[in-house]
Amino acid sequence: MQDERIDPAALAAFLERLSAEILERGDWGKVADYIPELAAIDPAQFAISVALADGTLVSAGADRVPFSIQSVSKVFTLACVLGRQGGQIWQRVGREPSGSRFDSILLLELERGKPRNPFINAGAIVTTDALLEGREPKAALSEILTFLQSACEDVTVRIDPAVARSELETGFRNIALANYLKSYGNLRNPPELTLGTYFHQCAIEMTTRQLAQAGRVIAGLPGAPKILSVMNARRLNALMMTCGHYDGSGDFAYRVGLPGKSGVGGGILLIAPRRASIAIWSPGLNGYGNSQMGTFAAEQLARFTGWSSFG
Ligand code: DON
Repeated sequence: MQDERIDPAALAAFLERLSAEILERGDWGKVADYIPELAAIDPAQFAISVALADGTLVSAGADRVPFSIQSVSKVFTLACVLGRQGGQIWQRVGREPSGSRFDSILLLELERGKPRNPFINAGAIVTTDALLEGREPKAALSEILTFLQSACEDVTVRIDPAVARSELETGFRNIALANYLKSYGNLRNPPELTLGTYFHQCAIEMTTRQLAQAGRVIAGLPGAPKILSVMNARRLNALMMTCGHYDGSGDFAYRVGLPGKSGVGGGILLIAPRRASIAIWSPGLNGYGNSQMGTFAAEQLARFTGWSSFG
């Protein structure tokens, strides 16, 4: 089916078939084991929700099960920072793909404390630090949560404190990254304050239904709440396309052809600009730390709909 005015009923039938195929395949990948709370999650789960331009939401699988959005939150934190201080953040963070793992420290030393992009951990820690400046972590977190709740029009979106605590207890790489950034003068707050905020932001939990609705602001769908400028939505899409899947970003763009952002909780936010916002969840990860079955589902959906940023 190549028509962009997709028929919701045909899409619903496709999503059901896709969900059944994925459950049957059983090729789940491995859950993130460096955050104990996430390591305990059953990888054999799948959900997909698609918010369409006509206002309908089409879903299949475990679409009402909340999951840890983890790095998907980085898109929304950046949206808040761009809205608050415009392009100032680019003096502290780059906009280029890193080609290295999401938690790599290597480039940070080579590039003297300026992270390659806002979606790798080092860059996201700086973005969170920028949002935190001059106020308490509670206020910064409340801004991110309020943005998400407004975007999906659902005030029940919350932070899971157990996941935040779990990551704090084992977040040695992020602690190293934050200290390294501080040593280069690229962290304005005490590292523990910025990290505490960052871990809580990553511990936001949402269902695929909520996340697909939230993504409407980035997709620029007609009924979406007006909380993000058209220019900033374009910028987020560009960064999601080039940097949203870390060292797997090129592969994801080749296979799917749409901007996407993954998280180690197994979530993917996928954007078909002006057409749809899609959230996919399957907690087992591939070698890049991106959802294994989520990536497969994104590829199948793009094929079925004909949605691609490249025509
Ligand atoms: O900082 C971390 O390691 C996690 N809270 C987030 C990493 C993440 O989601 C990477 N995504 N694939």
